[in-house]
Amino acid sequence: MDKSDKNKSRKFDVPFEEIKRQREYVNLAKTVLETRFGLIEPLAYVHTFGCQGNVADSERMKGWLAQMGYGFTEEIEQADFVLYNTCAVREHAHDRVFGNVGALKPIKEKKPHMIIALCGCMMQQEHVWQKIKKSYPFVNLVFGTHAQHRLPELMYKALCGGKRVFEVENSDGFIAEGVPVRRDGSFKGWLPIMYGCNNFCSYCVVPYVRGRERSRTPEAVIAEANELIASGCRDITLLGQNVNSYNRDSGEMNFAELLKQINNIDGDFKIRFMTSHPKDCTFELLDTMARCEKVSRHLHLPFQSGNNRVLKEMNRGYTREKYLSLIEYARKVMPDISLTSDIIVGFPGETYEEFCDTLSLIKEVEFTSLYTFIYSPREGTKAASMPDPVSREEKGKWFRELTSAQEQIAAKRSQKMLGQTYRVLCEEHSGGMLSGRTDGNVMIDFPGDESRIGEFVNVKVTACRNWTLSGEIAD
Ligand code: 5AD
Ligand code: SF4
Repeated sequence: MDKSDKNKSRKFDVPFEEIKRQREYVNLAKTVLETRFGLIEPLAYVHTFGCQGNVADSERMKGWLAQMGYGFTEEIEQADFVLYNTCAVREHAHDRVFGNVGALKPIKEKKPHMIIALCGCMMQQEHVWQKIKKSYPFVNLVFGTHAQHRLPELMYKALCGGKRVFEVENSDGFIAEGVPVRRDGSFKGWLPIMYGCNNFCSYCVVPYVRGRERSRTPEAVIAEANELIASGCRDITLLGQNVNSYNRDSGEMNFAELLKQINNIDGDFKIRFMTSHPKDCTFELLDTMARCEKVSRHLHLPFQSGNNRVLKEMNRGYTREKYLSLIEYARKVMPDISLTSDIIVGFPGETYEEFCDTLSLIKEVEFTSLYTFIYSPREGTKAASMPDPVSREEKGKWFRELTSAQEQIAAKRSQKMLGQTYRVLCEEHSGGMLSGRTDGNVMIDFPGDESRIGEFVNVKVTACRNWTLSGEIAD
């Protein structure tokens, strides 16, 4: 690729002029807040449901809000602006959003100038925003994932009053660079490298609400990584629905190469990434992980089901055997690697015998931890129209069988950690105890001073109760 090609914008890149226009709206919104509402120091309450991708999006929306002069509060009653960034992946998150929004009605009655906004994945679903339009008249502003970078304009319109604002058009999606970011933490940073998904796993709503797969340029990602490290960040997580297909369309720098480049940045920090898709996970990537000393020895590789017929129905694009061969290779090149995964129990038509293949796979691999979900039908997905004869109660039994098997595996793994020393990033402090995660993403509690938060320390594991580990600083 020659230099002039590199400067060309791609069809999904938001033009710089658009971001400039949004900055003008920042000033306009600020003026309305001050002159019409008399709010010199308005407060925003922002709550994020769902995955780290949503957390990263919220950090960008908070960046815009901070520029508009908003401070942030954890108390809804104090807020002049409430924003819920929603998740559509499972019914549970969906129901929680509606519960939370309903609870805002009496609060807003006491504070009529409060602006209530809903955004994120759920708002990209027509049946959801139609319901909000019809049954939740106190919600002022609704926008989907594709309009997030235009928050200042949408806020300005909502603040000017009159009509409710709905910006929910469907799209293949955009990439907006130059949006301000207000990060939630100083030593842990989320770094989106790509957006959207093209995989259309038959159970999953993400491709419908997040648009097509598109990658940020390596220049943009590396610049943000540099910025994070310069500001003291010690733990960077690269984010995407399927990081292994980074830049697949452009043929530019692939994910393994991107990891190497970030690994080459000077500084004492760790690199994590999620999520990897087994169909695109390559031996090259595993070799690269093994060679990059800053890349954590942790691989989150969701397998969803251990049965080949179910995997095919899920449209996952790999078999149990291919998955196990990746695990075998990962362990060959990184014997100490920690493995985690996502699993769906009770996919439509799954039998108990097929579920037992999932059970046998977790026993074979011995994951460090698992994120297990009972299948939740999502409107508009292929699986939602498949016959689903097994009762919720029965699926609940399978689910408990799976989680109790994993508890035993985790307890055994924790026992093996006893007496060993791990380098841990101190993340939280409460009641005289620090807690932090090892390279393999295992939490350890240990006595220590709050001032050490954000530092790496060596911790010797001295006790283990079930899967909870505690230890002491060994420096
Ligand atoms: N039902 C249950 N779990 C789901 N996931 C995605 N869609 C569904 C669904 N419809 C789970 C998958 C995915 C994780 C983020 O959420 O395991 O990896
Ligand atoms: Fe959903 Fe599959 Fe895309 Fe992951 S890879 S977001 S499970 S469609």
